[in-house]
Amino acid sequence: MQVLAIVGAYLYPADFDMTSKPTATSFTFPHRHLLGIEGLSAEDITGLLDLSEEFVVLNREVEKKRATLRGRTQINLFFEASTRTQSSFELAGKRLGADVMNMSVSTSSVKKGETLIDTAATLNAMHPDVLIVRHSASGAVELLARKIDCSVVNAGDGAHEHPTQALLDALTIRRNKGRIEGLTVAICGDILHSRVARSNILLLHRLGAQVRVVGPSTLLPRDIDRFGVDVHRDMKSGLDGVDIVMMLRLQRERMNGSFVPSVKEYFHYWGLDEAKLRYAKPDALVMHPGPMNRGVEIDSAVADGAQSLIREQVEMGVAVRMAVLDALSRNLPNA
Ligand code: CP
Repeated sequence: MQVLAIVGAYLYPADFDMTSKPTATSFTFPHRHLLGIEGLSAEDITGLLDLSEEFVVLNREVEKKRATLRGRTQINLFFEASTRTQSSFELAGKRLGADVMNMSVSTSSVKKGETLIDTAATLNAMHPDVLIVRHSASGAVELLARKIDCSVVNAGDGAHEHPTQALLDALTIRRNKGRIEGLTVAICGDILHSRVARSNILLLHRLGAQVRVVGPSTLLPRDIDRFGVDVHRDMKSGLDGVDIVMMLRLQRERMNGSFVPSVKEYFHYWGLDEAKLRYAKPDALVMHPGPMNRGVEIDSAVADGAQSLIREQVEMGVAVRMAVLDALSRNLPNA
């Protein structure tokens, strides 16, 4: 990773080339919601990544506030646990000047049996401008978007999509490799249950990368062929010559039954350690969306090592979510 330290600040290759990037005022995002990467064009994605670059710079300043969403109300509605996505959407909204409300689903009337649609209709009556939703059911966020008036952002729906994760991953890759087109990215582990894998495959293909999926047959979707990826069932061939190694968590909360013989065996064959990382290119970079299970899918020496981008992914998450909120806000009534 090419990083220069100048008076305590870190400058990445992307920091030097701001000339060709659109400013926050010149990008038009032609969508009311962000429900998935599917449905976004390469121009939509590149526009969001370019806009995110401005927020990377802003977020490293002492004064991080803009007034873009002043007067707007953002509700974060998370039916599943989250650390990174929920907190970064909260920070993103606040830094753009929105009033942000985190709805506590565990203490809400959902616990008394209120449905997703009734919950949404109730919140809709309070006139939010943007709703950030995570739900365990694939398609739940799109269903909700059809029922309410404000903009909706998918913060992860079942095993379907997690679009802002794919955007922040792409931003991280582009900043470190200077491009996405022509790179080879290996997505490894529990592909079957992963919305991160689906969104990343769609986005990386749209921007011209080659994608491999690597994992045991039990953790690959039966219809994997229709994803247009190269399929590898061992880490040696799967990581051979790749630019990016993206590890995934074993999503045990979505598993019915036994998908791996044991954690010890899984780590032996599929866990990324320093020896397996040597199959990739010498300058390969390691990513993980988090939360990580150290010693299950990734070894600490790799997760915390010089080739890891995992902390930078978290930083890019705030910038990408600011860009998404900023872009969607341009299509709000009275914008
Ligand atoms: N990557 C991701 O979605 O993390 P959280 O579950 O902590 O939000």
